[in-house]
Amino acid sequence: MSSRIEAIGFIQEDNAENITRYRESLDSLLLTDENLRNRRILDIGSADGGFARYVRSLGLNCEIVDLDTVWAPPPDAQAVRADAYHLPFRNNVFDLVVSSGCIPILCIGSKFTGEAQARQNTKMSLSEAFRVTKPGGQVRMNSVPTIGSVNFAGHYEWEYFGLIAVADAVKDYVRLLNSRGNKAFVKTDTLIIYKKG
Ligand SMILES: C[S@@+](CC[C@H](N)C(=O)[O-])C[C@H]1O[C@@H](n2cnc3c(N)ncnc32)[C@H](O)[C@@H]1O
Repeated sequence: MSSRIEAIGFIQEDNAENITRYRESLDSLLLTDENLRNRRILDIGSADGGFARYVRSLGLNCEIVDLDTVWAPPPDAQAVRADAYHLPFRNNVFDLVVSSGCIPILCIGSKFTGEAQARQNTKMSLSEAFRVTKPGGQVRMNSVPTIGSVNFAGHYEWEYFGLIAVADAVKDYVRLLNSRGNKAFVKTDTLIIYKKG
């Protein structure tokens, strides 16, 4: 279930430093300020809505979705508490759907859920982002694991195999989209999807 989030609690103040951080997340999505103009934008896994505040600093709008409730969005932000696997939006409504730093967290699951679940999670989160994107629109997600980029070092075994499963599921989904006339690819660690117009 999703619900409109009431803007209660503290509202994070932006300073030059954290606005710069969200500018960097735009860079890592391989986007520029210009790509944001005249677009209906959704940020999935927005946390406290920092990216949306960056977009707002340009005089534009950005809707946000996160499952967690510890953060409080700006009062006039369009914020929805919802699961990325079941986005509470109709099909084909956003020009640009972004997600920063979320795919591993969203998809890997836990040591109890296993690789099949990681694959399923990946498919669900990518297909939901695609579903709500308009024909001719784009999905951009950074921090997307690729087979060659996942290192065993620094991970528990279940995390390593979970990330490999996520990377493989991303590859499969990209192939599926391309076979249906969309254009999808991973550049470095950024997934870019151009939905067929
Ligand atoms: C690494 S943080 C993302 C940070 C933010 N995008 C940024 O760039 O600062 C991951 C976010 O994903 C959210 N998240 C995790 N699972 C989710 C789910 N199933 N649906 C929606 N959001 C989820 C978490 O609550 C968290 O805010």
